[in-house]
Amino acid sequence: MVEGIGHSLVIGASSGIGRDLAVRLVSRGSKVTAVARRADRLAELEASGVYALAGDVNDLSLLPALVATAVKANGLLTSLIICAGVQCIKPIRMMAVDEIEHLYRLNLTVPTVLAAQFASRRISTDDAVFCAISSVASLRPEPGIVAYGASKAGLNGLIHGLARELGPRRVVGVAPGWLDTELTQKFPHLYGEAFKEKLAKESPAGPATVSSVADAVEFLISPAASRITGVVLTVDGGAVL
Ligand SMILES: NC(=O)c1ccc[n+]([C@@H]2O[C@H](COP(=O)([O-])OP(=O)(O)OC[C@H]3O[C@@H](n4cnc5c(N)ncnc54)[C@H](OP(=O)(O)O)[C@@H]3O)[C@@H](O)[C@H]2O)c1
Repeated sequence: MVEGIGHSLVIGASSGIGRDLAVRLVSRGSKVTAVARRADRLAELEASGVYALAGDVNDLSLLPALVATAVKANGLLTSLIICAGVQCIKPIRMMAVDEIEHLYRLNLTVPTVLAAQFASRRISTDDAVFCAISSVASLRPEPGIVAYGASKAGLNGLIHGLARELGPRRVVGVAPGWLDTELTQKFPHLYGEAFKEKLAKESPAGPATVSSVADAVEFLISPAASRITGVVLTVDGGAVL
């Protein structure tokens, strides 16, 4: 769909949605810089032509150098795709302060700091696209993931505001429903077979998949979406309806 479009910086590319996007964008002829912490996973990506940078984006002081290194290697960004995120499933009364701080930092502070970098002409082209992965939890918070939902609702607010401030650059998001990745596999007591069967019954078009989310991102960053900005596209097979 997106043939040979410039340079995509994918934050959180060693698994799940980010990995799928890094591999498919490079296969279309884009330059891709992939960021994550796990060096072994990044080495696998490098074998498919992705330029990989290992780093923990929670260390906010690293972000300017990380972005500058990507631009130096592959040119101005034509898209910045933020997939790194963290989930915490437990009643709010059980959440420790450091868990809350970590959740908001990765899900909201990191995208905000990266947006500040992205906005510069030294970093991105005038028609570049900022895209972040939100969640349906931002639209319909569920008990046990209230803080996660709030962090993603904040991300939606960031997307809406940036779309107004950063034009002609576009700012978009995708809000997936529950899907099978390492993020959900960490909670087998909840995200088990019974949960998946219930989700399938509640999703008129079928539950979200990694590739369906990546399809939506690929569309939103493409010239076919050139008049779409400030939108957070829900990809959940209709489960929140
Ligand atoms: N899975 C779902 O059901 C679901 C539903 C709705 C929304 N989402 C959202 O979708 C996004 C992608 O999640 P996913 O499901 O694809 O999960 P995933 O497979 O766990 O991917 C998360 C990626 O982020 C990277 N990452 C995490 N912390 C990082 C850090 N501090 N610094 C650098 N990279 C970091 C991870 O790599 P390393 O561990 O190697 O650093 C990994 O590549 C998240 O924002 C999530 O909230 C997921």
